[in-house]
Amino acid sequence: MDDVISLGVGEPDFTTPWHIREAAIYSLERGFTMYTSNLGLIELRRALADHLALRYGVAYDPGDEILITFGVSEGLDLAMRAILDPGDEVLVPDPGYVSYAPCVTFAGGVVRPVPTSATDGFRPRPADFAERVTTTTRAVLLGYPNNPTGTAPNRETLSAIAQVVAEHDLIAVSDEIYDRLIYGREHVCFASLPEMRDRTILLGGFSKAYAMTGWRVGYAAAPRDLLAGMLKIHQYTALCASITSQMAAIEALKNGEAAVTSMVEEYDRRRRVIVKGLNDVGLTCHDPEGAFYAFPSTMATGQSDEEFAEHLLLEEHVAVVPGSAFGACGRNHVRCCYATSLPQIEEALRRIDTYVKRKRQG
Ligand SMILES: Cc1ncc(COP(=O)(O)O)c(C=O)c1O
Repeated sequence: MDDVISLGVGEPDFTTPWHIREAAIYSLERGFTMYTSNLGLIELRRALADHLALRYGVAYDPGDEILITFGVSEGLDLAMRAILDPGDEVLVPDPGYVSYAPCVTFAGGVVRPVPTSATDGFRPRPADFAERVTTTTRAVLLGYPNNPTGTAPNRETLSAIAQVVAEHDLIAVSDEIYDRLIYGREHVCFASLPEMRDRTILLGGFSKAYAMTGWRVGYAAAPRDLLAGMLKIHQYTALCASITSQMAAIEALKNGEAAVTSMVEEYDRRRRVIVKGLNDVGLTCHDPEGAFYAFPSTMATGQSDEEFAEHLLLEEHVAVVPGSAFGACGRNHVRCCYATSLPQIEEALRRIDTYVKRKRQG
């Protein structure tokens, strides 16, 4: 189909900043084409340890508490395979990123969804976690700022969830891939909360903040006993992340701050335009505090999320993702990724307006 505006895939529309690409090219010119340590380059692990200590005040030993992965995707799979025995339950807020439930299932675990709702801006309620803990609960799997809702709970909410984790002797797996994409508030690193460093597997990456999705590089930071289990799987199934991507990641951490700041400012501009625009056309949308997604309701059109997404694409050539792809609580909502240019967003809003008016009349 020609002329489609995609608010579909969750991927930055920016190219990786030039100085990062150049560092990778230069590393190839210098002949860095070999395997690295299974854990990843020590220079990168040191840079990450410094970064996490400085930003979030949480200390990891670069020697054996940080593992470089093929993005958060691999880290998530490793974490689940390392910590779960068959039948172990994992509490996962719903809606959540599409890979969470499959990774738990592939590792032999059982997903226990923790419902969230549009009426509270999809903020998780700590009591909902506590109520669902059983003798087979092993872990909570958190992803904030959230894909698909953009929700970023405050310190108080996350601290109350941390209390549940500590009280029931659980492990927290915290996917913080969107930590830098947060607007007008601080990101709370789950591992930095009281008692959480020693029971959290922190997953982070370069894909979103530095526009490096194709490089396939990320990291896991965790206490050494947990990380050792993940390393055991990684060393036999992946060996190590690409050295070129690791070289690029070092440059991103050392000199990428200005680029991150300017991309985040641009996302924030787009965020305000799309959230206002969706609300103005009658698709109620809470204010997303992070990531690059708006998650409006489709109820005003009388259509389910799937009908809405399908017909909006066919009739107005705008692609969005049905919310139910992210869990039952995403029903009757669609995910609109605003990692696309402002003129494209404005045109998409005009088309959505035409579509909603037509459905309301008909
Ligand atoms: C919440 C979340 N976690 C993880 C990923 C995958 O990250 P990576 O590119 O580091 O594998 C994505 C990609 O969309 C995501 O939205």
